[in-house]
Amino acid sequence: MSDDRFAGEFAGKTVIVTGAASGLGKVTAAAFARSGADVAMVDIDRDGLEQSVEAVRAEGGSARPILADLSQSDVGSMVIDATVQAFGTIDVLVNVAGVFHFSPVPQTTAEAWDRVFAINLRAPFLLCQAALPHLVERAGAIVNIASSSAFFGHAYLTAYGASKAALVSLTKSLAMEYARTPVRINALAPGGMMTPMVSGMTSMSDGIDRDLVSRYGGLRPPNEPEDLVDLILFLASPRATAVHGACFAADRGITAG
Ligand SMILES: NC(=O)c1ccc[n+]([C@@H]2O[C@H](COP(=O)([O-])OP(=O)(O)OC[C@H]3O[C@@H](n4cnc5c(N)ncnc54)[C@H](O)[C@@H]3O)[C@@H](O)[C@H]2O)c1
Repeated sequence: MSDDRFAGEFAGKTVIVTGAASGLGKVTAAAFARSGADVAMVDIDRDGLEQSVEAVRAEGGSARPILADLSQSDVGSMVIDATVQAFGTIDVLVNVAGVFHFSPVPQTTAEAWDRVFAINLRAPFLLCQAALPHLVERAGAIVNIASSSAFFGHAYLTAYGASKAALVSLTKSLAMEYARTPVRINALAPGGMMTPMVSGMTSMSDGIDRDLVSRYGGLRPPNEPEDLVDLILFLASPRATAVHGACFAADRGITAG
């Protein structure tokens, strides 16, 4: 956990974390709050968000819930305006929220494809677009949460994998376009994590070839979301001054071979 290593590091800074009601977003938001940040916590899950915000406040952290549906086209300005209204500025944007869509090709509908891309790719773009004027002013940072699925083919994850590969590409293009500013823009690509996103996957439908799926397990145990928090805080902090336009693998070797 990041508590000691990043103590005070983000004092006086404002950090936006999407997907803050659950899994990686929840522990990331709590870690930023423990390191002194004011945290805007964004999610569509009202109850989960309330619980996450309460947990941060119970530890003495500063958090503001922003209830938002990232599939909506006006979400960028909505979230950024609400954050600036609450805390006055923005120093860090962490795009964690994402949706998984496990589906064989014949059953992958256009609607499902569009939803995955709206939440996993368009929303990070819209949030970056709206946040960048503030981040340029504050010499801030963006961290996009991609996936090891961006780097190798996954049966039954066509839309999800393609959206994450595009998110890595988006990260690099943004990094180039903002190369002459002080903003740093990077991505992190986790392998499998034990979060609600994948825990519902145990009941696979008929017609799934399990051998195609079991290849992605890796030789080491999966990460817990807590294992990734220090990497996110590092990428968001001035300690990572040398890192811009990069995607760090955090998959315990899955994409190594
Ligand atoms: N769990 C894994 O195995 C794994 C592996 C690699 C990458 N990732 C990525 O890590 C990130 C976090 O995933 P997680 O495992 O913590 O998942 P999770 O399901 O626990 O959390 C995702 C959060 O995103 C929120 N969300 C979903 N749709 C939304 C919408 N339309 N508007 C606002 N919020 C919305 C959910 O409510 C939830 O709180 C995702 O981007 C995911 O793709 C996860």
